[in-house]
Amino acid sequence: MPGTAEAGVPNEIRDFWDEDAATYDRSSAHYPRRPQERAAWSATLRRLLPAPPASVLDMGAGTGFLSLLLAAQGYRVTAADISPGMLAKLRAKAADMELAVTVAETDALHPPEGRFDAIVERHLVWTLPDPAAALAAWHAAAPDGRLVLIEGTWDGRRTAVLSQFRARARMLAALIRQPEPHHPRQYTDQMNAALPFNGGLTPDDAVRLVEASPWGRARIERLRDIEWAVTEGLGPLDSLLGTHARWALTAGR
Ligand SMILES: C[S@@+](CC[C@H](N)C(=O)[O-])C[C@H]1O[C@@H](n2cnc3c(N)ncnc32)[C@H](O)[C@@H]1O
Repeated sequence: MPGTAEAGVPNEIRDFWDEDAATYDRSSAHYPRRPQERAAWSATLRRLLPAPPASVLDMGAGTGFLSLLLAAQGYRVTAADISPGMLAKLRAKAADMELAVTVAETDALHPPEGRFDAIVERHLVWTLPDPAAALAAWHAAAPDGRLVLIEGTWDGRRTAVLSQFRARARMLAALIRQPEPHHPRQYTDQMNAALPFNGGLTPDDAVRLVEASPWGRARIERLRDIEWAVTEGLGPLDSLLGTHARWALTAGR
Protein backbone atom coordinates (compact mmCIF):
# COMPACT_ATOMS: atom_id res chain seq x y z
CA MET A 1 0.00 0.00 0.00
CA PRO A 2 1.47 3.36 -0.91
CA GLY A 3 1.80 5.81 1.98
CA THR A 4 -0.28 9.00 1.98
CA ALA A 5 2.54 11.11 0.54
CA GLU A 6 3.22 8.64 -2.28
CA ALA A 7 -0.49 8.24 -3.06
CA GLY A 8 -0.71 12.01 -3.69
CA VAL A 9 2.05 11.97 -6.30
CA PRO A 10 -0.17 11.26 -9.37
CA ASN A 11 -2.20 14.38 -8.49
CA GLU A 12 0.98 16.40 -8.05
CA ILE A 13 2.20 15.16 -11.43
CA ARG A 14 -1.10 16.11 -13.09
CA ASP A 15 -0.98 19.59 -11.48
CA PHE A 16 2.64 20.04 -12.57
CA TRP A 17 1.77 19.37 -16.23
CA ASP A 18 -1.41 21.46 -16.08
CA GLU A 19 0.78 24.40 -15.07
CA ASP A 20 3.51 23.48 -17.56
CA ALA A 21 1.03 23.44 -20.47
CA ALA A 22 1.16 27.23 -20.85
CA THR A 23 4.88 27.24 -21.71
CA TYR A 24 5.63 23.67 -22.88
CA ASP A 25 5.52 24.48 -26.60
CA ARG A 26 8.10 27.27 -26.26
CA SER A 27 10.75 24.60 -26.74
CA SER A 28 11.26 23.49 -30.34
CA ALA A 29 12.00 20.02 -28.90
CA HIS A 30 8.37 19.96 -27.75
CA TYR A 31 6.81 21.52 -30.85
CA PRO A 32 9.13 21.49 -33.87
CA ARG A 33 8.46 24.35 -36.25
CA ARG A 34 11.27 23.81 -38.80
CA PRO A 35 9.98 21.90 -41.86
CA GLN A 36 13.05 19.64 -42.01
CA GLU A 37 12.64 18.62 -38.37
CA ARG A 38 8.92 17.93 -38.71
CA ALA A 39 9.50 15.91 -41.89
CA ALA A 40 12.30 13.88 -40.27
CA TRP A 41 9.95 12.98 -37.41
CA SER A 42 7.22 12.03 -39.90
CA ALA A 43 9.58 9.73 -41.81
CA THR A 44 10.83 8.13 -38.59
CA LEU A 45 7.33 7.51 -37.21
CA ARG A 46 6.19 6.08 -40.53
CA ARG A 47 9.15 3.68 -40.52
CA LEU A 48 8.64 2.58 -36.92
CA LEU A 49 4.85 2.06 -37.14
CA PRO A 50 2.49 -0.08 -39.21
CA ALA A 51 1.21 1.84 -42.27
CA PRO A 52 -1.72 4.30 -42.01
CA PRO A 53 -4.63 4.13 -41.39
CA ALA A 54 -3.50 1.96 -38.44
CA SER A 55 -5.06 2.92 -35.09
CA VAL A 56 -2.49 4.40 -32.73
CA LEU A 57 -2.80 5.22 -29.03
CA ASP A 58 -0.43 8.02 -27.97
CA MET A 59 0.05 7.67 -24.20
CA GLY A 60 1.13 10.81 -22.33
CA ALA A 61 0.36 12.70 -25.53
CA GLY A 62 0.90 16.11 -23.93
CA THR A 63 0.36 19.02 -26.33
CA GLY A 64 0.30 16.57 -29.23
CA PHE A 65 3.86 16.17 -30.45
CA LEU A 66 3.34 12.62 -31.81
CA SER A 67 -0.45 12.72 -32.20
CA LEU A 68 -0.44 15.64 -34.65
CA LEU A 69 2.42 14.26 -36.75
CA LEU A 70 0.59 10.93 -36.94
CA ALA A 71 -2.88 12.32 -37.68
CA ALA A 72 -1.35 14.40 -40.49
CA GLN A 73 -0.14 11.14 -42.06
CA GLY A 74 -3.56 9.50 -41.99
CA TYR A 75 -3.26 7.45 -38.79
CA ARG A 76 -6.37 7.07 -36.60
CA VAL A 77 -5.05 8.65 -33.43
CA THR A 78 -6.24 8.53 -29.82
CA ALA A 79 -4.31 10.90 -27.57
CA ALA A 80 -4.38 10.01 -23.84
CA ASP A 81 -2.97 12.10 -21.01
CA ILE A 82 -3.49 12.68 -17.29
CA SER A 83 -3.40 16.47 -17.67
CA PRO A 84 -6.47 18.35 -18.94
CA GLY A 85 -4.26 21.43 -19.43
CA MET A 86 -1.92 19.64 -21.84
CA LEU A 87 -4.87 18.07 -23.68
CA ALA A 88 -6.56 21.46 -24.09
CA LYS A 89 -3.46 22.65 -25.99
CA LEU A 90 -3.51 19.50 -28.11
CA ARG A 91 -7.20 19.96 -28.97
CA ALA A 92 -6.64 23.59 -29.99
CA LYS A 93 -3.68 22.70 -32.23
CA ALA A 94 -5.57 19.80 -33.84
CA ALA A 95 -8.50 22.15 -34.56
CA ASP A 96 -6.17 24.80 -36.07
CA MET A 97 -4.58 22.15 -38.30
CA GLU A 98 -7.97 20.59 -39.13
CA LEU A 99 -6.77 17.20 -37.90
CA ALA A 100 -9.01 14.55 -36.32
CA VAL A 101 -7.62 13.28 -33.00
CA THR A 102 -9.70 11.47 -30.35
CA VAL A 103 -8.74 12.76 -26.91
CA ALA A 104 -8.94 10.83 -23.60
CA GLU A 105 -8.13 12.23 -20.16
CA THR A 106 -6.82 9.22 -18.27
CA ASP A 107 -3.89 7.79 -16.36
CA ALA A 108 -1.33 5.63 -18.18
CA LEU A 109 -2.49 2.61 -16.17
CA HIS A 110 -5.99 2.91 -17.68
CA PRO A 111 -5.79 3.17 -21.46
CA PRO A 112 -9.00 4.21 -23.20
CA GLU A 113 -11.37 1.51 -24.49
CA GLY A 114 -10.41 -0.03 -27.81
CA ARG A 115 -8.03 -2.44 -29.46
CA PHE A 116 -5.16 -0.54 -31.05
CA ASP A 117 -2.67 -1.47 -33.78
CA ALA A 118 0.09 0.39 -31.96
CA ILE A 119 0.88 2.15 -28.69
CA VAL A 120 3.36 5.00 -28.85
CA GLU A 121 4.79 7.26 -26.19
CA ARG A 122 7.41 9.97 -26.08
CA HIS A 123 9.05 11.04 -22.82
CA LEU A 124 6.38 9.55 -20.56
CA VAL A 125 7.99 6.45 -19.02
CA TRP A 126 10.42 8.41 -16.81
CA THR A 127 7.51 10.05 -14.99
CA LEU A 128 5.48 6.90 -14.24
CA PRO A 129 5.46 5.59 -10.65
CA ASP A 130 4.85 2.04 -11.95
CA PRO A 131 6.13 1.71 -15.54
CA ALA A 132 5.93 -2.11 -15.50
CA ALA A 133 2.18 -1.99 -14.71
CA ALA A 134 1.68 0.63 -17.44
CA LEU A 135 3.42 -1.55 -20.04
CA ALA A 136 1.19 -4.48 -19.09
CA ALA A 137 -1.93 -2.30 -19.42
CA TRP A 138 -0.78 -1.02 -22.82
CA HIS A 139 -0.19 -4.58 -24.02
CA ALA A 140 -3.77 -5.46 -23.07
CA ALA A 141 -4.93 -2.52 -25.23
CA ALA A 142 -2.91 -3.77 -28.24
CA PRO A 143 -2.42 -7.52 -27.74
CA ASP A 144 -1.52 -8.08 -31.41
CA GLY A 145 0.02 -4.68 -31.95
CA ARG A 146 3.31 -2.83 -31.70
CA LEU A 147 4.90 -0.80 -28.92
CA VAL A 148 7.04 2.22 -29.83
CA LEU A 149 8.84 4.10 -27.05
CA ILE A 150 10.58 7.31 -28.15
CA GLU A 151 13.15 8.45 -25.64
CA GLY A 152 16.30 10.51 -25.32
CA THR A 153 19.41 10.67 -23.17
CA TRP A 154 19.18 14.34 -22.22
CA ASP A 155 21.86 14.65 -19.58
CA GLY A 156 24.46 12.35 -21.15
CA ARG A 157 24.46 10.08 -18.07
CA ARG A 158 26.16 6.74 -18.67
CA THR A 159 27.22 7.75 -22.21
CA ALA A 160 30.71 8.15 -23.76
CA VAL A 161 32.94 10.82 -22.16
CA LEU A 162 32.65 13.22 -25.13
CA SER A 163 28.82 13.00 -25.02
CA GLN A 164 28.86 13.72 -21.28
CA PHE A 165 31.13 16.71 -21.83
CA ARG A 166 28.86 18.11 -24.56
CA ALA A 167 25.74 17.52 -22.44
CA ARG A 168 27.31 19.51 -19.58
CA ALA A 169 28.38 22.26 -22.00
CA ARG A 170 24.81 22.50 -23.35
CA MET A 171 23.46 22.83 -19.81
CA LEU A 172 26.05 25.52 -19.02
CA ALA A 173 25.21 27.43 -22.23
CA ALA A 174 21.50 27.31 -21.28
CA LEU A 175 22.30 28.61 -17.78
CA ILE A 176 24.34 31.51 -19.18
CA ARG A 177 21.70 32.47 -21.75
CA GLN A 178 18.73 32.00 -19.41
CA PRO A 179 16.15 31.59 -22.18
CA GLU A 180 12.48 31.94 -21.27
CA PRO A 181 11.85 28.72 -19.33
CA HIS A 182 9.61 26.12 -20.94
CA HIS A 183 9.38 24.26 -17.61
CA PRO A 184 8.59 26.92 -14.97
CA ARG A 185 8.87 24.37 -12.11
CA GLN A 186 10.87 21.24 -11.35
CA TYR A 187 9.60 17.99 -9.82
CA THR A 188 9.88 18.03 -6.02
CA ASP A 189 12.05 15.52 -4.14
CA GLN A 190 8.89 13.73 -3.07
CA MET A 191 7.73 13.34 -6.69
CA ASN A 192 11.16 12.13 -7.83
CA ALA A 193 11.33 9.63 -4.97
CA ALA A 194 8.15 7.95 -6.27
CA LEU A 195 9.56 7.52 -9.82
CA PRO A 196 11.95 4.62 -10.54
CA PHE A 197 13.33 6.41 -13.64
CA ASN A 198 13.25 10.03 -12.52
CA GLY A 199 15.64 12.08 -14.65
CA GLY A 200 15.26 9.72 -17.63
CA LEU A 201 15.78 6.06 -18.41
CA THR A 202 18.78 4.69 -20.25
CA PRO A 203 18.49 2.39 -23.30
CA ASP A 204 19.51 -0.54 -21.04
CA ASP A 205 16.77 0.38 -18.55
CA ALA A 206 14.21 0.47 -21.36
CA VAL A 207 15.19 -2.89 -22.86
CA ARG A 208 15.14 -4.57 -19.43
CA LEU A 209 11.77 -3.05 -18.58
CA VAL A 210 10.10 -4.04 -21.85
CA GLU A 211 11.60 -7.53 -21.99
CA ALA A 212 10.25 -8.21 -18.48
CA SER A 213 6.77 -7.11 -19.65
CA PRO A 214 4.19 -8.96 -21.79
CA TRP A 215 5.69 -7.20 -24.85
CA GLY A 216 8.74 -9.49 -24.73
CA ARG A 217 11.73 -9.11 -27.06
CA ALA A 218 12.77 -5.48 -27.64
CA ARG A 219 14.41 -3.84 -30.67
CA ILE A 220 16.24 -0.56 -30.21
CA GLU A 221 17.77 1.99 -32.57
CA ARG A 222 19.26 5.46 -32.44
CA LEU A 223 17.28 8.17 -34.26
CA ARG A 224 20.16 9.77 -36.15
CA ASP A 225 17.89 11.35 -38.79
CA ILE A 226 16.19 13.38 -36.07
CA GLU A 227 19.53 14.40 -34.56
CA TRP A 228 20.71 15.44 -38.06
CA ALA A 229 17.59 17.54 -38.67
CA VAL A 230 17.87 19.21 -35.25
CA THR A 231 21.61 19.91 -35.57
CA GLU A 232 21.19 21.52 -39.01
CA GLY A 233 18.92 24.14 -37.41
CA LEU A 234 21.44 25.14 -34.72
CA GLY A 235 23.69 28.20 -34.77
CA PRO A 236 27.51 27.84 -35.02
CA LEU A 237 28.24 27.42 -31.26
CA ASP A 238 25.29 25.14 -30.62
CA SER A 239 26.16 22.92 -33.56
CA LEU A 240 29.60 22.34 -31.94
CA LEU A 241 27.85 21.28 -28.74
CA GLY A 242 25.51 19.04 -30.73
CA THR A 243 22.23 17.61 -29.51
CA HIS A 244 21.30 14.78 -27.17
CA ALA A 245 20.92 11.20 -28.39
CA ARG A 246 17.41 10.15 -29.38
CA TRP A 247 16.41 6.50 -29.62
CA ALA A 248 13.38 4.33 -30.20
CA LEU A 249 12.51 0.98 -28.70
CA THR A 250 9.98 -1.18 -30.53
CA ALA A 251 8.40 -4.46 -29.48
CA GLY A 252 5.51 -6.66 -30.56
CA ARG A 253 4.45 -7.17 -34.17
C1 LIG B 1 7.39 15.29 -21.02
S1 LIG B 1 5.67 15.36 -21.40
C2 LIG B 1 5.65 14.55 -22.99
C3 LIG B 1 4.49 14.99 -23.83
C4 LIG B 1 4.50 14.50 -25.28
N1 LIG B 1 4.47 13.04 -25.36
C5 LIG B 1 5.70 15.03 -26.04
O1 LIG B 1 6.45 14.22 -26.61
O2 LIG B 1 5.88 16.25 -26.10
C6 LIG B 1 4.99 14.11 -20.34
C7 LIG B 1 3.46 14.00 -20.49
O3 LIG B 1 3.03 12.84 -19.76
C8 LIG B 1 1.84 13.15 -19.08
N2 LIG B 1 1.73 12.24 -17.93
C9 LIG B 1 2.49 12.22 -16.81
N3 LIG B 1 2.12 11.23 -16.01
C10 LIG B 1 1.11 10.58 -16.64
C11 LIG B 1 0.31 9.45 -16.32
N4 LIG B 1 0.50 8.78 -15.18
N5 LIG B 1 -0.63 9.06 -17.20
C12 LIG B 1 -0.83 9.73 -18.35
N6 LIG B 1 -0.11 10.82 -18.72
C13 LIG B 1 0.85 11.23 -17.87
C14 LIG B 1 1.98 14.61 -18.70
O4 LIG B 1 0.74 15.21 -18.41
C15 LIG B 1 2.68 15.17 -19.92
O5 LIG B 1 1.75 15.62 -20.86
